[in-house]
Amino acid sequence: GNFISDLTSGRGLTGQGSAPAIPVTILIGSQTGNSESLGKKLSKAMAKLNFNPEVIDMASYEKEKLPSEQNVLIITSTYGDGEPPDNAADLHEWILSDAAPSLEGVNFSVLALGDTEYPDFCKCGIEFDTRFEQLGATRIYDRVDCDVDFDEPFALWRDGVMDALGGSQAAVAPAFEEPTEDGYSKKNPFRADVLQNYNLNTDDSERQTQHVEISLDGSGIEYEVGDALGVLPQNDVALVDEILENLPFKPTEEVPLPGGGEATLREALIEHYDIRNLNKKFIESWQARSGSPFLRSLVEADSKEAYEDFCWGRELIDLITDHPADFEDAEEFVAVLKKLQPRLYSIASSPNANPGEVHLTVGVVRYNSHYRNRGGVCSTFLSDRVNGVQPGVFVHSNKAFRLPENGETPVIMVGPGTGIAPFRAFLQERKVSGAKGGNWLFFGNPYESKDFLYKDELEELQKEGVLTKLDTAFSRDQAEKVYVQHRMLEQGAELWKWLSEDKASFYVCGDASRMAKDVDAALHKVAEQHGKLSEEEAAEFVKTLKKEKRYCRDVY
Ligand code: 2AM
Repeated sequence: GNFISDLTSGRGLTGQGSAPAIPVTILIGSQTGNSESLGKKLSKAMAKLNFNPEVIDMASYEKEKLPSEQNVLIITSTYGDGEPPDNAADLHEWILSDAAPSLEGVNFSVLALGDTEYPDFCKCGIEFDTRFEQLGATRIYDRVDCDVDFDEPFALWRDGVMDALGGSQAAVAPAFEEPTEDGYSKKNPFRADVLQNYNLNTDDSERQTQHVEISLDGSGIEYEVGDALGVLPQNDVALVDEILENLPFKPTEEVPLPGGGEATLREALIEHYDIRNLNKKFIESWQARSGSPFLRSLVEADSKEAYEDFCWGRELIDLITDHPADFEDAEEFVAVLKKLQPRLYSIASSPNANPGEVHLTVGVVRYNSHYRNRGGVCSTFLSDRVNGVQPGVFVHSNKAFRLPENGETPVIMVGPGTGIAPFRAFLQERKVSGAKGGNWLFFGNPYESKDFLYKDELEELQKEGVLTKLDTAFSRDQAEKVYVQHRMLEQGAELWKWLSEDKASFYVCGDASRMAKDVDAALHKVAEQHGKLSEEEAAEFVKTLKKEKRYCRDVY
C-alpha cells in the first residue's frame, strides 16, 4: 500500500492559538525516500505552528481534489534521466496534459530535489512549478532546487513557505533543530575495512568492474536487500598535487572545510572538496577572478548548451592551467569549490547470506578527454586508491526496491552491466530464505568471454535451482548488437505468462538514459503482442504494475 502510511494522520490536529489552523496538503514524489523524509519534517514543523498539514504520497492522491485545495506544497525529486519518481509519474503526466483543470485559487510552492551531476537537474520539480502557474495557481514562495546536500536549502524553503502562508512564528520557540541521528549516517560515516577487491572482467576487457567486499563488523549497521551503500571517496593524490603545483598557495596552509572545521589545503583537496565537476555556478565565480576573455564570453552568452559543452570532459585542473584566476588566499580559492559528495552504489549482497559484510559491484569510469586521462572519483578510488584507507560508508535505504514480501511471488530481474548488483543480492536472499517463487534474470554486457560478471556464481545458482531462468545478451559477440530488451522480446510469451498469470514482480537496474527506456518499451510491447492489448491497454497494464509495486526500478 501507501509507503507513507504513518503520515496521513496529520489532519485534525489543531494549530496553536485561537486562529483556525491553515490547511496544507504536502504532496510527495519520492523514489528513494529523501522527499518523503523532508515531507515528514515539514509536517512536524508545521503542526507546531498554526497549520494543519497532511502529507500524501502522490501515487495515492485523489487528483480530483486538487482544484479545491487551498495550499499545496510539492516536494519531489527527479529520477533517472530527468524523469519523475515512479510514485509521481501518474500525477505528473496528468498535470502536464490537456486534461489538467484550472488551479485558480490554489496557493503552491515547490521544493525540487536533484543532483547537479545529471543534465536535467530538478526537471520534475521545475515542470510541476511551471505548470501549476500556467494553470492559474498562485506561487506563494519561489521554487527551491536542491543539490544532493539538501538540508540547508530545505530549511530555507520550509521557513520561507511557512512565513508566506502566514504561520505565526511566535508560537514556537526553537522548533527547528534537526533531530540528531543515531548511528552511522551520511554525516557520520563508518570507517570500514575492505576485505576483498578484484576485477570481475578479464584484463583484456574494455570494461573494469570491481567486486568490493566491505566489513561492517562492529558498526551495528544493518541493511536490507535493495538498499544502497554510500561511500565517501578520496580524490586522486597525484591530481591534487598537480593542482597545488599550479597554485601560489602552500599545501600546508589551513583552510576551512565545507561542513565546518579546518584542514591543510592538501588534505582538504584530497578528502573534502570536489575537484572534478564543473558547472555554471562554478564557472561564474571562477570567471569573476580570471582575465580569460574566453570565460567572459561564455558567462556573457549564458547559454545552457555552451556551458555544458565547455564543462564536459573538463575539470578544475583545466581551468587552473588554461584560464588561471587570482585569489587573495587559499581560503578564497576553496570557497568556490563544492563539497566532495559520497557516491551511492546498489548493494550486491544479502546481509543474511553474508553477515557483517556488504558487497559492491563498481563500474570503474575511465576516459580520455582534452588530452588527459581522467576517471570517476569514487570508482577509481575504490579500484586504485583504497589500499590502506578505511573508506567512510553508510547505508541509504531504498524502500521502493524490495523483494516481494511473499516468497512464492516470482521475480523477473533485468540487470545488464553493473545493474546486476542488486540482483546478486536478491538471488542470495531468495536462496537463504528458501523462497519458492521463480527467479528469472536478464543480464548483458559486451563479450561473454570477458564481461560475464559473476558467471560462476550464477551457474551455481542455476544448478541449485535458485536461478530458474537466465537469459544473457552479449552485445558484441555477433555482428548485430543484442541487448537485454531483445531477449525480453524473444521470450515474450513466457514473460507475459509470468507477469499476467503468475503475478511476477519486474525489476530493472542499470543505465537510465538508454537501457531502462528500451526495457520499458519492450515491456509495453510484450503486453501488446502476448497479452493482445492495445497500446493504451498495455500502458494501463504497466501503470498498474507500478501502482502495485510490481515494477520497480533502480536506474542511474
Ligand atoms: P554495447 O556497449 O556493446 O552497446 C552493459 O553495459 C551493456 O549495455 C553493454 O553490453 C552495452 O552494449 C549495453 N547497452 C548499450 N546500450 C544499450 C541499450 N540501449 N539497451 C540495452 N543495453 C545497452
